[in-house]
Amino acid sequence: AYEKLWLAASILLILLLIGSVTYGAVGPGIAMVSDTEPAVDAGALDEDDRFSEPRVERVGENEYAAYVVAFQFGFDPDPIVVPEDSRVTFYVTSRDVIHGFEVVGTNANTMVVPGEVSELTVEAEEPGEYGIVCNEYCGAAHHSMEGKLEVV
Ligand code: CUA
Repeated sequence: AYEKLWLAASILLILLLIGSVTYGAVGPGIAMVSDTEPAVDAGALDEDDRFSEPRVERVGENEYAAYVVAFQFGFDPDPIVVPEDSRVTFYVTSRDVIHGFEVVGTNANTMVVPGEVSELTVEAEEPGEYGIVCNEYCGAAHHSMEGKLEVV
């Protein structure tokens, strides 16, 4: 009778492990308009050092900053490529209307407002591809507005 108990216990442990690995893959994101990043002129992103060339920048050991521009109807850069086992802070703005920025399957999720910089940090641990979607209605092709995060 004890074998069955041990079997059930070990299956439970395996499930818990899978759960924690999945959760840890792209970790908690804090979603808000940044209180440290200055606002931005949505009509002149070309003249803003942060957003004239949307990109991923290494800012420390295992630390990266991703400058992302949302637009009707996509994200730039696409894909956003970061190394595994890194901490990535996204700075996201819009060049037209209000959009969303959500890493699918995680709680990394923020609204993106023209003129503001949204900031959120994720732990990119496991290699993989994650979808990015817009979850604010932003026009006719809102439903097809998506991007990709690649953890390599
Ligand atoms: Cu952008 Cu919906």
